[in-house]
Amino acid sequence: MRNAKQRRRPFSVRFHILTFGCQMNVADGDWLTQSLVSRGWTETAESDAQVYVVTTCSVREKPEQKVYSLLGRLKAYVDRDPDVFVAVGGCVAQQIGEEFWNRFPFVRLVFGTDGTAMVPQALERLVADPALRVSLLDFLDHYPEREQPEGGAVQAQAFVNIMQGCDNFCTYCIVPFTRGRQKSRAAGAVVAECEALMQRGARELTLLGQNVNSYGQDKHGDGTSFADLLGRIAAIPGLLRLKFTTSHPKDIAPEVVTAFGALPSLCPQLHLPVQSGSDAVLKAMGRKYTRARYLQTVRDLRQACPHIALTTDIIVGFPGETVRDFEDTLELMREVGFESSFSFKYSDRPGVRAEKMDFKVPEEEKARRLAILQELQDRMTLESLAAQVGSETDVLVEGQSRMQDGEHVFWRGRDGGGRIVNFSSPAPDLTGRMVRVRIVDAKKHSLTGEIRGEPW
Ligand code: SAH
Ligand code: SF4
Ligand code: F3S
Repeated sequence: MRNAKQRRRPFSVRFHILTFGCQMNVADGDWLTQSLVSRGWTETAESDAQVYVVTTCSVREKPEQKVYSLLGRLKAYVDRDPDVFVAVGGCVAQQIGEEFWNRFPFVRLVFGTDGTAMVPQALERLVADPALRVSLLDFLDHYPEREQPEGGAVQAQAFVNIMQGCDNFCTYCIVPFTRGRQKSRAAGAVVAECEALMQRGARELTLLGQNVNSYGQDKHGDGTSFADLLGRIAAIPGLLRLKFTTSHPKDIAPEVVTAFGALPSLCPQLHLPVQSGSDAVLKAMGRKYTRARYLQTVRDLRQACPHIALTTDIIVGFPGETVRDFEDTLELMREVGFESSFSFKYSDRPGVRAEKMDFKVPEEEKARRLAILQELQDRMTLESLAAQVGSETDVLVEGQSRMQDGEHVFWRGRDGGGRIVNFSSPAPDLTGRMVRVRIVDAKKHSLTGEIRGEPW
């Protein structure tokens, strides 16, 4: 039975999701989209929506600020139609919580990671009752399973959460506070979701967690290790590519290292955030590995899989980082030869241990170090891309390339190492198909190729 208020909106609710932050937020947004669509809601352009869902990131100050400026922009839609409202989720929501209501009265739902599973029902209630506000900020003591959409096709690339939260408390990082303690999802549920995605058309799966290498090592695990989980998923028929992110170097098991040589669908790529090349800084960051151990892991990985593409995250200007420490980081980067890296200026986050540390590095010095580091990375990226020229590789097509010349249709995809490859083909739609491509040119951040043979 619908109540009177629900009858006021007999039409399909038009929603728009805006995502900031890491792939876990992207995956949450995808799930939410499917779940709302399965309830008869319609995804629409920003200017046309009645309900906005914003998933936020507070890992550094900059992404946090973006949320506030976005809410300022969305206010214009509320001014136009007072029934319009906003739901704010993710890490800033967890951190700021109901304070959002005071600053932005049109925010009628705040939800944290563990609340995501209940968002669709909460949004329905909010649409039905304009006087209501809802907050879903409690941490649960288990991984909250989400309803799985029954049917419908999915894209070739799909993401699967295998855990939530983080127990590492690196001294600079807010994530353990915003995402809560580590909670592994039951292996059976993960494998079942992977199988269902494959049946709906997925060909590549990316397993997600803040530290996938410690999957199963918390009290919520069912005894399955990350290496076992990889083995079970890699065995699903039809899976072309398996990837995972993010890995903490201290927890990578020898069985995961050797999996790179042993599981044919496991892509030869690994994002292994090093953060710094200086032992003193690594210690102050609470990372619990040394430079030497990181480099040994890299050697082991290359022994298991000689062509593995390694990428990383680096923070410059951590409190107390000297010029010498910074040079150690540059030196480590050269030694490993990262294909690419995400690098950041250290940013104070409220409540983390590093916030209270002495010897903060001045902003201009952090900027100087970041520029040097990024220039080195750009050179290394260009070199490793140039080394691909002349080779043949399999590319999973993600869609049309932004680079179009009016005469040919250009497609964009990735090789097994995660490198972006653009190539032209007259085929009507190659999205989600695999193609053999010969690499003919290297650009700053991508490769250009020529298609060989038939897509599959
Ligand atoms: N769980 C992942 C990383 C999550 S945050 C891991 O451990 O690898 C993504 C990246 O943001 C981190 O790897 C780190 O490089 C960066 N980061 C986190 N906190 C930061 C801070 N306070 N200042 C600058 N960069 C930070
Ligand atoms: Fe943050 Fe460290 Fe956890 Fe990564 S492992 S999310 S950097 S605390
Ligand atoms: Fe950002 Fe939270 Fe992800 S702080 S990086 S959205 S875990």
